Amino acid sequence: MPQTIQGETISDFRSDTVTRPTPAMRRAMAEAVVGDDVLGDDPTVQELEALAAEAFGMEAGLFTPSGSMANLIAAKVHTRPGDEVLVEAFGHVYNNEAAGLGSVCGVLTRTLPSDRGLIDPDDVVRFARPEESLHSPRTALLVVENTHNFHGGRVVPAAHLRRLREVSRERGLALHLDGARIWNAIAAGGGSARDYGALADSLMFCFSKGLGAPIGSVLLGSAEFVARARRVRKTLGGGMRQVGVIAAAARVAFETGRERLAEDHANARALAEGVAEIPGALVDPAACETNILFLRTERGPESYPELQEALRAHGVWAIACGDLGVRFVTHRDVDRGDVERALAALREELPRLGRA
Ligand SMILES: Cc1ncc(COP(=O)(O)O)c(C=O)c1O
Repeated sequence: MPQTIQGETISDFRSDTVTRPTPAMRRAMAEAVVGDDVLGDDPTVQELEALAAEAFGMEAGLFTPSGSMANLIAAKVHTRPGDEVLVEAFGHVYNNEAAGLGSVCGVLTRTLPSDRGLIDPDDVVRFARPEESLHSPRTALLVVENTHNFHGGRVVPAAHLRRLREVSRERGLALHLDGARIWNAIAAGGGSARDYGALADSLMFCFSKGLGAPIGSVLLGSAEFVARARRVRKTLGGGMRQVGVIAAAARVAFETGRERLAEDHANARALAEGVAEIPGALVDPAACETNILFLRTERGPESYPELQEALRAHGVWAIACGDLGVRFVTHRDVDRGDVERALAALREELPRLGRA
């Protein structure tokens, strides 16, 4: 459904974070039973943490205001200052979390190449430094992003993650799964929640992306890990009081948002298939596995901001992302009608702006 922003009717493909709370979420927020979560007695958030942990077969969970904070807490618990973290070169924690790994955790990051978001297990072996070196940092952590945002929502299948898990264990590294969109990976057949949970020392997922909540993420792991994480969250100012008010909306998202992700994937695929036929587009619809599409053009990166602006005039909002293309993300608040509207706008603008 098109949204209204400042009086303008738009089809908003900028991100799956743009969804507005549903009436059911607003009702749940109004009626939430709350306590003081820092003092340990908000039942609504505690139930949500337990439900999320149970879904992945992990021992415990910690509600956080954002995915970035959950990733940062995980890195802080798994590392010491001066350690090194391995992360894929286009990884969100490396590129888009305001350098928290360096500034808050005091760790070095080493970026790994990948096959469109899939890290080669041999590269983990190659890039992890020998533990016993007097000279080098200790490589402590591997972060795996699933689905991979800047590789167009690429799914990391559980079978592939298992291999990464094996080599990281051999090298003594913890494995953190940045599963902001892990439910999209699950909906796309990458593996079950239990599969993924069994392959990570810690796992973060967002209620505020495809599941559709206004706020909130959760960090999962062993009871001991989560106890340490709770303390780090407090250090970062992420201890919240009557947080059941927002956890209640996140619970509605958790209970109602998962089964409809396949619809988002079908919409993204329809968009990809439609765009691929327009002159000027460089799009492989088969690579659109979940809810993210990067539209690249024959003319290349200089056309992306121009295309973004031209689409805006049609009420179609997407984001030019550097060299990566113009990003379209499908979610609960865009439907097939919005896809058709985007395609109509692209048929008009892309041949003019995108052809070499
Ligand atoms: C892969 C990935 N990880 C983490 C995050 C961070 O989530 P948040 O925006 O809630 O901080 C995002 C946000 O887009 C993301 O795409």
